[in-house]
Amino acid sequence: MSGAAPLAGRTFLVTGITDAASLATAVAAELVRRGAHVVCSALGPTPHHEGLSARARDHLAATLESCRKTVEREVGGGAETIACDLTIDASIRDLGEALGRRGVALDGVVHAVARDRTLARGGAPGLLDVSREDFLDCLDVSAYSLIALLRELLEAGALARGASAISLSYLAAERVVTHPYAAMSVAKAALERITLELAAELGRRHGVRVNAVRFSPYTASRAGGSIRGLAQAEAHGAAIAPLGNALFEDLAREVAHLLTPGLAVTGEIRNVDGGLHLLASGPWDPAARRPGDGDRSNR
Ligand SMILES: NC(=O)c1ccc[n+]([C@@H]2O[C@H](COP(=O)([O-])OP(=O)(O)OC[C@H]3O[C@@H](n4cnc5c(N)ncnc54)[C@H](O)[C@@H]3O)[C@@H](O)[C@H]2O)c1
Repeated sequence: MSGAAPLAGRTFLVTGITDAASLATAVAAELVRRGAHVVCSALGPTPHHEGLSARARDHLAATLESCRKTVEREVGGGAETIACDLTIDASIRDLGEALGRRGVALDGVVHAVARDRTLARGGAPGLLDVSREDFLDCLDVSAYSLIALLRELLEAGALARGASAISLSYLAAERVVTHPYAAMSVAKAALERITLELAAELGRRHGVRVNAVRFSPYTASRAGGSIRGLAQAEAHGAAIAPLGNALFEDLAREVAHLLTPGLAVTGEIRNVDGGLHLLASGPWDPAARRPGDGDRSNR
């Protein structure tokens, strides 16, 4: 590979921007800085949302508007924002077809989307506290949506041969964490497994690469800020990770790198966390100790 600006003139879809603190905002801004064109998709009202309450409709409209303003202010580069609900195949199809009609063949896709409805109620302490409905919604938004997104874009002819897809994950896909995250941990594990399966499947069929990046605990975003106890995890990471917590610019640079055309990297789960994943660390939440715990030791 040659050239100082391998992303210049390439076009990428970035999902998951809500505001300036969204991880996807840093990624989109980095891509524009490197000369790429960016299209952003955001949760927002679509013709496929039927029978919604006025409150739900207002929420979708406000989410889309927040993304639009953020993209204008923080991303620049003429990036446009398109409403798309990643839990509705027809909505993704509309996005793919709109891109296809304009002759856009994306060079890459950034999946930065997650939802755990229990968090709005303070978070479920464990999996036994998660209803089937909330669990399936979490898996749908946070994991299955990657499959649906890539399928619909491919079927619409909106994903170029050799394109690269990146999703954002977290160490909890593999390790048990003590903040309320049980359903999301399972969703992240599924997302990572989906990454491996799609890397094999799409690599063979379309030359498309699929990778995931695990990031440090990060409370500044809406999703991160809604997780009770994530602040302790963030402080713990800052204290013990060999390099401290990764910054959101670190994530943006790594995602931009993995989007570089022509890399022979696929099916990779990359850690951008200052080395936190290296450590076999105990619970950082003192409340996570077993009730009535005595000291168990072999001495
Ligand atoms: N915050 C952290 O500590 C952290 C750490 C590692 C990985 N991540 C992951 O990074 C990604 C981005 O999270 P963030 O921390 O920037 O929070 P964020 O709240 O800014 O982003 C989450 C995004 O998901 C979008 N979304 C939810 N449901 C959707 C749907 N049905 N259709 C389309 N979009 C939908 C939201 O609108 C929002 O833009 C997520 O996958 C998250 O799990 C976050």
